[in-house]
Parts: sequence; structure tokens; C-alpha cells
Amino acid sequence: MSKIFVTRQIPGKALDELKRAHEVEVYDGEGRISRTELLKRVSGAAVILSVITERIDGEVMEAAGPNLKIIANYAVGYDNVDVAEATRRGIMVANTPGRLGDAVAEFTVALVLALSRRVMEADRFMREGKYTGWDPQLFLGIDLTGRVLGVVGPGTIGAVVGKRLQAVFEMEVVYHCRQRKLEFETQTGGRWVTLEELLKVADVVTLHVPLTAETRHLIGEQELAMMKPTAILINTARGPIVEEAALLKALETKQIWGAAVDVYEEEVGVDWQAWRRLDNVILTPHIASATEGAREEMGRLAVEGIIKVLQGERPENLVNPEVWKNSDSRN
Ligand code: GLV
Repeated sequence: MSKIFVTRQIPGKALDELKRAHEVEVYDGEGRISRTELLKRVSGAAVILSVITERIDGEVMEAAGPNLKIIANYAVGYDNVDVAEATRRGIMVANTPGRLGDAVAEFTVALVLALSRRVMEADRFMREGKYTGWDPQLFLGIDLTGRVLGVVGPGTIGAVVGKRLQAVFEMEVVYHCRQRKLEFETQTGGRWVTLEELLKVADVVTLHVPLTAETRHLIGEQELAMMKPTAILINTARGPIVEEAALLKALETKQIWGAAVDVYEEEVGVDWQAWRRLDNVILTPHIASATEGAREEMGRLAVEGIIKVLQGERPENLVNPEVWKNSDSRN
């Protein structure tokens, strides 16, 4: 019987299977677990099933102790886990891609549509009782059909966003990433361009890169200045990829047409006053992957990986495969 510590309650029944054979401890307090409690509760765990609000670093791994075999992160992104440190300690780290990618892509498309057609603003207008009849000037949006879509990072999620928007709105696709993606080019007619060119030509810029040292503040003041004044920016990836203060300024001065943001540099404790005054931004609370199907599958993938590791097998979504290769024997 191994100890499995789950840092937050997760939806669905995924944990039931683990509970039958192992000691599963779930943090069930309000909101996120405090750092002190996290350090205490992981002690002796063979598995930490973590969510992205928890920073799983060397201190947590140390607090867990020598039994720790796997950190199963309930997310596709794993910038909250110090993977290098886990690798150094021979601890596996797994993530949960799968249907989550489709859910995030769908939400990204929803934001593109809602922002370009000012759906949120129009809804607020109706609720405030301001509608006095049809007006040819009311809530003019921007067109999508035939316009240029710029995908920054056409990985699992970005590629789906590109395919969907190209197929439905015949958007011309340009993309940027380190290496050309030939399959994506075939599927969308997409053209690889530099980030600078993408920002200059795209009507919709959508970000889908992971958060790393290279992508932190990938979009700052200079980059926003390259965008067209009629262009929109969508961030459903990670907050720190965009320099938030620069984005706020670009929106206030209408340097760009609008933005839709699901992720934030500091996800909690931010003073939203300045953002709230803006009509040209949609703010959502990090819910791009929040569908019942995606969350169920995230739980299932995390649990499948954990079971494999506890049986001495290689988990599927291992993000540091070198740990597996370097180990001679497992139990
Ligand atoms: C959510 O943000 C994820 O990375 O899955």
C-alpha cells in the first residue's frame, strides 16, 4: 500500500480505483493548500498528484522523502513542477494531455469569437437596460473570414486552434515555433514566419507555447507595438508569456483592438481595478480546459500513470523520460 497525496479535490471518480488499493489522502480544505500544510502532508508519499496552483519544487520533494516515485501533474502544462530537480532525484513527472487539448482549443475559439464580435460587452449592455432599438453603429466588431490567424506554438493545442479556425473561417494561417511543422502546414496551408512577421501580419494572435525561461515575456511592449491596431491577442497558455503591464497599456491606449486572457502573471492577489475599466478585454478565470469530459480524462490519465508507476511500469505521459531510461530496476 503506497501513500498517494492529492493536493486538491478533483472532479469525477478517477481516484476511486486508487483508493481501492492504496492509501489516498486528498487535501479537502477551501481553496488551495497552504505551503506549510503541503510540506507536512506529502511526507512519506510515493505519489503526489498535484494541480497547477501548487509549486512542486525540491523542498516539497525533500519533504515527501525517499519514497516519492512520481509527481502526476493534473494539467498539460507543468511549469509549476521543478522537472530538472525531479529528474536529478530520479522522480518521474507526468502530465495529462489528451482531450484537454481539444477543450483548450475550443475555449480559445470561443474567446476569438466573443472578442471579435464584442459578445460580452453587448451582453452587459442588454443587462444594463441600455438597448433602445437597432442601430447601425452598435457594437461593430472585426471580421474573421479570410483574415490572418497567427498561431504562436502550433503544438497539440495550437494546431487544433489553427485547424478549426482555418476550416470554419477560411483564415489564412501563419505560425511561429522553433522548427517548421510540416503536418500543420499541410493541414492548414500555414506558413512559418518569424515572430516579428507574425505579429505584423496577423489579425488574430493566439499563444500556445509552454512557459519556459525562453517564453517568459515573449510578448512585451515591443511585440505589442508590432501588432496591427485592428488585431486581437488571445492567451490561454500561461500568464507570464505576456508582460501584463505592457498589455494593459496597449489596451488602454487602443494600440491593439482587444485581448482575451484566461491566465495571469500572478493568478491570485492581483488588483483588477485597471482591467475592469476596459471594454476591449475579456478576462476569464483559467478555465480553458474546464469541461466535464476533459477534467474526467485528466483524472483518468493521471491515475493510469500512477498505477503504472506503482506496478513498476513506465507511465504514458512522462515528461522526463530520462528518469526511466536511467533506472535499472523498479518495483
Ligand atoms: C492548464 O492550465 C493546463 O496546463 O492543463
